[in-house]
Amino acid sequence: MTQQQPGPPAGYSAAQKWLHWLMAVLILGMIPMGFTMVGLPEGPDRNWVYELHKSVGMTVFVLAVIRVAVRVARGAPPLPAGMPGWQRAAANLSHAALYVLIVAVPVLGFIGTSMCCSPVKLFNTITVPIALPGGMETGKVVLAVHGIAVFAMAGILVAHVGGALMHAIVQRDGVFQRMLPGRD
Ligand code: HEM
Repeated sequence: MTQQQPGPPAGYSAAQKWLHWLMAVLILGMIPMGFTMVGLPEGPDRNWVYELHKSVGMTVFVLAVIRVAVRVARGAPPLPAGMPGWQRAAANLSHAALYVLIVAVPVLGFIGTSMCCSPVKLFNTITVPIALPGGMETGKVVLAVHGIAVFAMAGILVAHVGGALMHAIVQRDGVFQRMLPGRD
């Protein structure tokens, strides 16, 4: 007797939807926060924003790991059957890139900080004990790559939001609605 393979789910789970919107809010806050904080004058205010940035960034990392695990375990609902091939390819490619970047961006920030600067103290409570070797020079290079990865992430996010709005307003095919909590 042949065993039937389980197909893709009919919709996103509540956990997938809530993770999506929570991370969207955090990341869309982190991008302007990061670009603003690097221009602040040296002092306690700048340090405070840096510490907040690191703590929220580590939170994004934990959520990203959970999110990737849920995505791998559960999959995603299929795209509408009539969707043109190029849109399908663009959606799959941008989603894959975003999954990589939501993990890579905070990891780069953490590695760079651990190499060059102070250890990460989560919301001023728990010190994350990994101090990586590398020193100031390498740490600065890693943080520069962190910034470049954020640029890539921001560019893909613009396309991602544009695509979502196209589905919601122009195509009205339910692709946007299926990511809304409380909807199938
Ligand atoms: C999704 C998560 C994150 C986002 C979206 C983000 C975003 C950014 C952005 C936009 C910048 C400015 C880059 C530039 O000016 O070129 C920045 C800088 C920085 N980020 Fe993050 N970040 C994240 C996570 C983290 C984490 C987890 C850490 C450390 C634990 C971290 C540490 C830093 C540091 C130290 C800088 C300053 C670099 C410098 O002074 O040159 N970031 N981040």
